[in-house]
Amino acid sequence: MRILLTGPTGQIGSELLQALPALGEVIAVDRAQMDLTDPEGIRKIVRSIGPDLVVNAAGYTDVDRAEREEELAHRINATAPGILAQEARRLGAAIIHYSTDYVFNGRATSSYTPKDEPDPINAYGRTKLAGEKAVSASGCASLIIRTSWVYGLRGSNFLSSILEQAPIKRELRVVDDQFGCPTWSRTVARATAQVIARALVRQGQAWSFSNAGGIYHLACQGVTSRFGFAQRIIDLAEISPEPTVVPVPTKAGTAEADRPRFSALCCDSTFRQFEIELPHWEAALEAALCCENRNKPHTACTKREAGS
Ligand SMILES: NC(=O)c1ccc[n+]([C@@H]2O[C@H](COP(=O)([O-])OP(=O)(O)OC[C@H]3O[C@@H](n4cnc5c(N)ncnc54)[C@H](OP(=O)(O)O)[C@@H]3O)[C@@H](O)[C@H]2O)c1
Repeated sequence: MRILLTGPTGQIGSELLQALPALGEVIAVDRAQMDLTDPEGIRKIVRSIGPDLVVNAAGYTDVDRAEREEELAHRINATAPGILAQEARRLGAAIIHYSTDYVFNGRATSSYTPKDEPDPINAYGRTKLAGEKAVSASGCASLIIRTSWVYGLRGSNFLSSILEQAPIKRELRVVDDQFGCPTWSRTVARATAQVIARALVRQGQAWSFSNAGGIYHLACQGVTSRFGFAQRIIDLAEISPEPTVVPVPTKAGTAEADRPRFSALCCDSTFRQFEIELPHWEAALEAALCCENRNKPHTACTKREAGS
């Protein structure tokens, strides 16, 4: 099987580079090889590679900047996935595309299921919802994976920013009125590979997800606030001297984009369909920090290894 992977330099894409080769030949194309703002370029590259499966891990992910650059974000997050899916369909290939908890407005009181109505409250969310619709409308065999609050061991993300700031600041102000599921990019990539292994089949001339296509939620279990997430990072990383984490309301911050107050994802249908579930967010964070500190194991890491 030939797998075309976009976004190999990103948090999820770089982990997919490790997880997907077990399933087939991975042809990773970065921005220099295929710029997602160039529709004709996309068509040309996809046709020349002729994949059986496209995994689109590329995206415009700067939530605040998207407020100023919605048109560019739309081209990358909506137009490009639509073209990738059309081209995949033309070749009889299937597509996996990533989306986000930010398609929801955050006013729910229990975790969002894939059946809940999206209602994005910022530009990024609008472009991601448009991307979901474009992929679905293509008629391609598609699986859309919504995930949330992704962090990884590379790039800039919430984990890296706390690890960077905590040792040099006496006080960190973190919002305590946004709730969601922090999710390690490695767990998403590995689960994606499992989904492909379990569901992707060749039917005649074309690949499909054996009637399991559609939208699925994939996030670590449990729910916390940004404040709770920051506090746990500092505890597990054993940062000393420990800074004080001060809870602040979103309105006290300077973020350009509004964010959902509650965007936890219910992953029950993913488990029912594929028997796949991600670990609790605290266990995943502990494992991620162990990898981060492989050369300098901290207590949490040593305990975990002793218990395994
Ligand atoms: N991060 C989150 O919290 C989160 C939450 C839910 C869902 N998601 C979704 O998950 C997917 C992956 O997210 P991530 O956090 O792994 O993203 P990321 O780390 O920000 O990486 C984005 C990737 O997209 C590539 N890219 C951006 N613009 C491009 C363009 N014009 N042409 C080609 N490639 C381009 C980047 O390449 P460069 O390295 O060249 O910039 C990079 O490889 C996205 O669809 C995102 O919406 C993310």
